[in-house]
Amino acid sequence: MGAAALGASMLTNPSQSRARVAAHQERIEALIARMTIVEKAGQLNLLGDPFRFRPQNVNPLDGQGDPARITGLIREGKVGNLFNGIGAEAGRRIQRIAVEETRLGIPLLFAADIIHGLKTVFPVPLAEAAAFDPDLAYRTARAAALEGAASGVHQTYAPMVDVARDQRWGRVVEGAGEDVWLNEVLAAARTRGFQGERGLADRDALLATPKHFAAYSAAMGGMDYNSTDMSDVTLRGVYLPPFQAAFEAGALSVMSGFNDLNGVPASGNRYLLTEILRGELGFEGFVVSDYTSEQELIAHGFAEDGRDAARIALMAGIDMSMVSGLFLDHIPDLVEKGDVPISRVDGAVRRVLTTKAALGLFDDPYRGCDPERERLVVGSQGHRDLAREAGVKSIVLLKNEGGLLPLKSSGQKIALIGPFADDVDNIFGPWTIWGDESRRISLEAGFRAAMADPTLLTVAKGSEVEAAMNGGVEAAVAAARDADVIVLALGESARMSGEAQSRTEIDVPAPQRALAEAVAGLGKPVVVLLRNGRALELSGAVKDADAILVTWFLGGEMGHAVADVVFGQASPSGRLPVSFPHRSGQQPYSYDHKTTGRPADNRLASQEYVARYRDTTNTALYPFGHGLTYGDVRYGAVTPPDATLAWDGEVELSVQVTNGGTRAVEETVQLYIRDRVASLTQPGRRLRDVRKVALAAGETATVRFILRRSQLEFVGPDGRPTVEPGLFDIWLSPSAQAGEPATLRLGKP
Ligand code: BGC
Repeated sequence: MGAAALGASMLTNPSQSRARVAAHQERIEALIARMTIVEKAGQLNLLGDPFRFRPQNVNPLDGQGDPARITGLIREGKVGNLFNGIGAEAGRRIQRIAVEETRLGIPLLFAADIIHGLKTVFPVPLAEAAAFDPDLAYRTARAAALEGAASGVHQTYAPMVDVARDQRWGRVVEGAGEDVWLNEVLAAARTRGFQGERGLADRDALLATPKHFAAYSAAMGGMDYNSTDMSDVTLRGVYLPPFQAAFEAGALSVMSGFNDLNGVPASGNRYLLTEILRGELGFEGFVVSDYTSEQELIAHGFAEDGRDAARIALMAGIDMSMVSGLFLDHIPDLVEKGDVPISRVDGAVRRVLTTKAALGLFDDPYRGCDPERERLVVGSQGHRDLAREAGVKSIVLLKNEGGLLPLKSSGQKIALIGPFADDVDNIFGPWTIWGDESRRISLEAGFRAAMADPTLLTVAKGSEVEAAMNGGVEAAVAAARDADVIVLALGESARMSGEAQSRTEIDVPAPQRALAEAVAGLGKPVVVLLRNGRALELSGAVKDADAILVTWFLGGEMGHAVADVVFGQASPSGRLPVSFPHRSGQQPYSYDHKTTGRPADNRLASQEYVARYRDTTNTALYPFGHGLTYGDVRYGAVTPPDATLAWDGEVELSVQVTNGGTRAVEETVQLYIRDRVASLTQPGRRLRDVRKVALAAGETATVRFILRRSQLEFVGPDGRPTVEPGLFDIWLSPSAQAGEPATLRLGKP
């Protein structure tokens, strides 16, 4: 693609006239013509912000170097981009150095990891995925963008769109879970939310950066940073679609992965970063490496030294180098010696400058850096209310025997037990750098605020997260002895999921399980509130509790959101975006696995010589899509039972859902398909659509879906989407493991 075409489409947005676009293109070309090779390398150099650095929960090298040294580098045009610093006032000061004290006055690009909120912390992305609600994901991303942009940030390193099928991998928490379709829908919604509707130059827009391109989540053994190895069909059918969805939604930057993919590290992978990304997906923005990932080509055994690593990464398609400084150090020499053509460097610089122009930085380098607005927008009441709403919608009710939930907010003695009962350190979850620590509502605080008589609540910790507490269990049992109902707050700490936090056993840590056994021994009704950043293996008293709510890490309003559901202000409506297995050893696991030539009938424990484990079934304990409400929702049969779809036609399929309960609910009806016979074997089920329906007590509704040929497509042997006539099974069901299918025949072209 030529420079003019690239610039034109990147710069086109509702707030920019053709004349301005042309003016920017001219300006960018004029700048490139005037830039020295060092200044060019500087525009491709991204360093941690040392001026506004907050040393918490972030990478070790962030805020690299001392401010005086970086100031010097900026003045010499050797740094064009900084990340993970926020603050409007300081942002103006730093930007002024670039604009007023450098030879060419090119503004800096400020990026940050704004993953699930800035000061207002929303549920972790995996939790929010449980809402199955793109509008909600749009709104929380929009709010995060408002806070980020008002704090002088231009770009966020989000959304993470890595499809995650191995719950041992700690970064499951950062994405939308195991399903491709849900990842696609939420990748688009989050990208639109960050970037807004008024164009990137809008003061409230954050440039979205889907990551980590690509297949990073398929790390072998679930161990973060580990190698990945997969067929092209799997790469294209599972791991690329959410990126494509983000690009189609307008994302103009993308981050490469740390992983080795089929023997070629992603950050040095020309097939991935150029042939597929540019050639096939038509991506026009810039590619930023992940934290030192181009330097890591050396440790991968793919580059000899820093110079070699910079050359390989550049030639593969990396445009901007994060943290390592290798592009700055080596580009001048690589170009001089003819190892990298200047056209490649100019192409990368053009993309970076065009993005800066698209963000409006050449018109107003201080865009968004407005301390007054920062005070108004950041942490506003409206955003806190949204965090609570998102929290409520993210909670998943796994079981509710005897209708134990909701609890009564008066007249019931409640013992709230466990390491998360009054905890505030583990409610934000991973990847919050700037969350408002004065706004962390614990479960205890949420319960007390919701209870008519808070003196009926007793609280005991009982155990640390991963270690027993001296006398803890005894104290907890004593605290629970008089209660009418016991609520156990158990699970993972924030540090147990996230980057580099892989686990071999995805269970509730043993000391907490021991606490649960002891307290459950009192024989009282037990509710478990799980705190988690991944699917967990449940066992013993935790698994056998009367009621279980998955409450993830819900952000600043966590206590209120959980209390809203526990005491019935809201009926739970979340659905699992990841399957909870019976045993850790089933990982990697996703509902959309294939059937094999020897499918196991999970009803017959004695079966031999079928695809199964001898010590557990192949199903999930709680499958993808599962989640109960406080109603009693029943599904009728899919209508029609035998449908026909003409090649270019569409067909309506419907199902009656009835709420036989006494409370209003929101039900999430899921459409799954199975291609019975295809030229490449297909999963036993694949999610293709979802409808949410509100049902009053006693109400019946007909939920309709329109199905077209495109929804039956799969990636064929040639790597392209294809669809083949023939028979399909169609489920309209409450989870990936429920319902009876109808038959659909797709006609010939
Ligand atoms: C992570 C990225 C993140 C980057 C910058 C890396 O370690 O993999 O997801 O955006 O750090 O903080």
